[in-house]
Amino acid sequence: MAYVELNVDDARQFLSVQPETLQKRVNELHKVIHDRTGLGNDYLGWLDLPKTYDKEEYARILLAAKKIRKQSRVLVVIGIGGSYLGAKAGLEFLQVPFKKNRLEVVFAGHQMSGSYLNRLLDYLKDKQFSINVISKSGTTTEPAVAFRVLKKALEEKYGVDGAKARIYATTDKKRGALFTVAKKNGYEMFVIPDDVGGRYSVLTAVGLLPLQAAGINTKTMLKGALEAYKRFSKPNLANNEAYLYAATRYLLYTSGKKVEMLVGYEPNLLYLNEWWKQLFGESEGKDHKGLFVASAGFSTDLHSLGQYIQEGERHLFETVIKVSETELDVLIPEEENDLDELNYLKGETLSYVNSQALKGTMMAHQDGLVPNMLLTIPKLDSYTFGYLVYFFEKACAMSAYMIDVNPFNQPGVEAYKKNMFALLGKKGYENILK
Ligand code: PA5
Repeated sequence: MAYVELNVDDARQFLSVQPETLQKRVNELHKVIHDRTGLGNDYLGWLDLPKTYDKEEYARILLAAKKIRKQSRVLVVIGIGGSYLGAKAGLEFLQVPFKKNRLEVVFAGHQMSGSYLNRLLDYLKDKQFSINVISKSGTTTEPAVAFRVLKKALEEKYGVDGAKARIYATTDKKRGALFTVAKKNGYEMFVIPDDVGGRYSVLTAVGLLPLQAAGINTKTMLKGALEAYKRFSKPNLANNEAYLYAATRYLLYTSGKKVEMLVGYEPNLLYLNEWWKQLFGESEGKDHKGLFVASAGFSTDLHSLGQYIQEGERHLFETVIKVSETELDVLIPEEENDLDELNYLKGETLSYVNSQALKGTMMAHQDGLVPNMLLTIPKLDSYTFGYLVYFFEKACAMSAYMIDVNPFNQPGVEAYKKNMFALLGKKGYENILK
């Protein structure tokens, strides 16, 4: 039985051709992925990571995480896109912010708000803190600026040598500005392998160091990813939910749906949504092709987006994540006078009410001509997080190859950067806006 179950029955009713008819194409593309013969094939390092991750470096990650927890109350993780979303998604998924006596992880360099950075500097003033700066290219403006500012604050607080012992750099193994800075200053360094792109890097030091430092069991997370790796190593759609998901969303796309919404009913899933949006949006959205990826947290957003989903333009479908078992729950108490008329729920758990909201909403959206897929995950733990990461990565590679785009590049991201550099007067960009 699958650890994570995928039910596409509701979507089937909207399809004239069923996913299983794509089995031959899926087999071919599976071979393309595993033989590494497709577009962007030098970025397939993530494929075997759950098995082949660098064990020596992982041992150093465990030690560094211990050291960070000993030396600091706060870890500032500096990074953007794939260099931040995976760790953020993991922290939210595992509810770390609510747990006591844990190292607090805060993020910087994931936007360019001066107000945010100013408030963060103020917050850190009376706290012991360390920095994990993450950038594969080592040249991305947002994290580079934040690092320059926070490094100065750290050096002012602990002196240059003290700061050096509190800075951990995760970057390319031999090039880029961050590599140069880290090498020159003697920071402890972790490597983002050449063949692993930013958004596929959660299972490298990019995700592992911040998560381990926050007290998350990354060993279990890697075990979850390994189970997914094994499960999705064969292309048969009957036993490969990642490919069944890819094939179904492809058929919905080619039948006219243009938007996929990833929906969760637990607030812990909000950043998994964000990570997923980057993974699929940057991997598929090119050559004027690809589903627009959106997300929602229900039942919250049923009171904002619900109207549109039910009755607006019929160009979307939903992938709903259901959590089978929640760690904590609340019982709804009985009240003698029942003035709020809620006694019909007395003795029920809030999770039960939430699960009925999920069922009712899926039925309503189906009636409103919004196809649904249902992904059922057992619980919100590190094993499941690791499994899900690999599930979506594998599904994403298959999805992008199905629409004939390179899943591993992001040429479109450069357009805003060029204009911004020209406007900021960066050397070499003088002629861009002429
Ligand atoms: O998926 C990607 O490659 C990108 O989204 C990058 O992660 C993002 O642009 C950050 O790049 P870098 O890690 O080089 O700073």
